[in-house]
Amino acid sequence: MTASPTLVPVLSPAGPAAQAIAEISWVLLIGATVLFVGTMALLAWALVRRRRDGEVVLRPLWWLAGGGLVLPVLVLTALFFYSLHRAPPWKAVPPADALVVSVTGRMWWWEIRYRDPVSGADIVTANELRLPVGRPVYLGLSSLEVIHSLWIPELGGKMDMVPGRVNHLLLQASRAGVYRGQCAEFCGEAHARMALHAVAMPQAEFDAWLAGQARPAVVANSPAALQAGRAVFEGQKCFVCHTVRGVAEGSRLGPDLTHVGGRLFIASGTLRNGPVEMKQWLSQVHEVKPGARMPSYARLSQGEMDALVQWLGALK
Ligand code: CUA
Repeated sequence: MTASPTLVPVLSPAGPAAQAIAEISWVLLIGATVLFVGTMALLAWALVRRRRDGEVVLRPLWWLAGGGLVLPVLVLTALFFYSLHRAPPWKAVPPADALVVSVTGRMWWWEIRYRDPVSGADIVTANELRLPVGRPVYLGLSSLEVIHSLWIPELGGKMDMVPGRVNHLLLQASRAGVYRGQCAEFCGEAHARMALHAVAMPQAEFDAWLAGQARPAVVANSPAALQAGRAVFEGQKCFVCHTVRGVAEGSRLGPDLTHVGGRLFIASGTLRNGPVEMKQWLSQVHEVKPGARMPSYARLSQGEMDALVQWLGALK
């Protein structure tokens, strides 16, 4: 599945919330254009009249009161009620059929939690928000350290993520696809590289994906080549920050890597996920993402790096 880059994602809505925003944007854009062109036409007309007739035209006070007071009041009042009526609804509780997902802003990545429909346990992943097409998704948004803001323009508007409180955002994808999201609140050095991808997929595919995410990493009985990669992960103490369920659990400092091999992107949407990119990321962390809190692993030998990359890629 590939992300479909759109020139102006805000005007290419893929869900009802974004649809409403796109509609309001068009009304504002077209309305502003009409008013601007109208004003310029009046100005040109007045200048022509002054040159021709030598004096100021008609009653200036009427024009000032009409154009400066009556018209703005009418236009702004109409826009106020229109946007109030058309804006996506804010809901204090999730709709009955909604999928509830928690997203926590971190410096500078996204921790994403689902509820396992079978066991009720949390399923933790990172930087990739998978959602079933056609079903409302109710996001509980929070943050651990600083204020972030979640924005996936093709699916809906922005919502702040504030430490110590939970904000809500209701999104829905009306067609399958990959939609890029971005942190929309300056949150420190790597703010610009704090992206995520929303992947909308048919309900059955989503269910299968979620069941896969619920399982620990499939590493038992792995061939010797993969065992070597796991040994590097353990030898370098990557587990101090990263959880790989079934291998090393407990840390929330960095993204959960249990199924990192199955993600479309790495480094919070900065690089596509593949062996070449993973190697680039691990050996040039701060060139790829200045400010990232992970140390660079350029010191690994070629063999260790290859083994580690191969093992991470196999965590699907
Ligand atoms: Cu997180 Cu900007």
